[in-house]
Amino acid sequence: MLFSPLQIRSITARNRIAVSPMCMYSSVEGMPNHWHLVHLGSRAVGGAGIVMTEACAVSREGRISPMDLGIWSDEHAQALQPVVEFIRQAGAVPAIQLAHAGRKAATAVPWLGHKPIYDQPHGWMPLGPSPIPYANGYPPPLEMGTADLKKVVDDFSAAARRANTAGFEVIECHMGHGYLLHSFLSPIANQRRDDYGGSLENRARLPLQVAAAVRESLPQQLPLFVRISCTDWVAGGWDLAQSIQLAKWMKEVGVDLIDCSSGAVTADSPIAAAPGFHVPFATAIREQAGIATGAVGLITEPAQAEQIVGTGLADLVFVGRGFLDNPYWALHAARKLRANADWPVQYARAVGVPR
Ligand code: FNR
Repeated sequence: MLFSPLQIRSITARNRIAVSPMCMYSSVEGMPNHWHLVHLGSRAVGGAGIVMTEACAVSREGRISPMDLGIWSDEHAQALQPVVEFIRQAGAVPAIQLAHAGRKAATAVPWLGHKPIYDQPHGWMPLGPSPIPYANGYPPPLEMGTADLKKVVDDFSAAARRANTAGFEVIECHMGHGYLLHSFLSPIANQRRDDYGGSLENRARLPLQVAAAVRESLPQQLPLFVRISCTDWVAGGWDLAQSIQLAKWMKEVGVDLIDCSSGAVTADSPIAAAPGFHVPFATAIREQAGIATGAVGLITEPAQAEQIVGTGLADLVFVGRGFLDNPYWALHAARKLRANADWPVQYARAVGVPR
């Protein structure tokens, strides 16, 4: 099953393995470069069905760090085109994750300490639902007003339009990991008293407006994914029951798949990470909201991935660090599972896999 094609709307992936979005922090002013071509391209050569970019900022202020990839102008989209084209030529579906970092924006890249830089010359003030800092050392974000909320919806919608122009065939909106849209969902970060805070309907309003606007700016045949944190792992925070309701609403506005992750709305939430630990969330949402799901998180073994997809626990698996460790993770998985997967014609004979 792992190597059976997955069709969503008019797009068919050759298998149910997606490269999970992973920040490379290797851009200047959001522009892609040779790193992105080789990094994403080699995972497409390595047999993944879907190759998704890292979190791609929909606006300058929505970057996690000054070195994030971005798509806030047509020049960004144009520069992404060769990357998209290569992924497609290598047989994978090119996908992009659209993101706004919210109150977790304006930090140094991980290898320079990942500390907030809002008060430095190259920094900026992060935005959020309420002036509650993410963690010690982070500033209280600027509380977003009506114009800011409208700008976020417009930015996501324009970014999706550009992504489509660049040739991406799957668009994912990042609504997890404590970034802007998750911070609206979670009562831990959102204590607004207007239409965007309080009840679940209100906290879900901005994420749903974004999803609806993105759906509208895409052609009908292209799938739309949404990544969520299914729980904050904190009492009084976001949880699975709310995720299931959100998934039902997302389905109504035209979202096709929920990519199930968790946590990261606070720096000190105790995440119970273990092999496949998000799979039960993906299964519950799939069954109770009636929407396709992807599972991510410590899916490292081909047999484990096969079991998840083959027994209907999720429709697809996202593999992150496994693909950093081995760009050919998917081809090696096929070999282990004795499944058919096409090695690149340039390599096949030499490694003893005739095509
Ligand atoms: C990530 N992750 C991540 N998630 C996301 O939604 N957008 C992103 O840009 C990133 N960036 C990122 C960078 C790096 C270096 C890592 C290791 C992770 C999370 C990632 O997509 C995935 O959900 C987790 O890594 C768990 O899956 P694995 O790695 O256990 O397969």
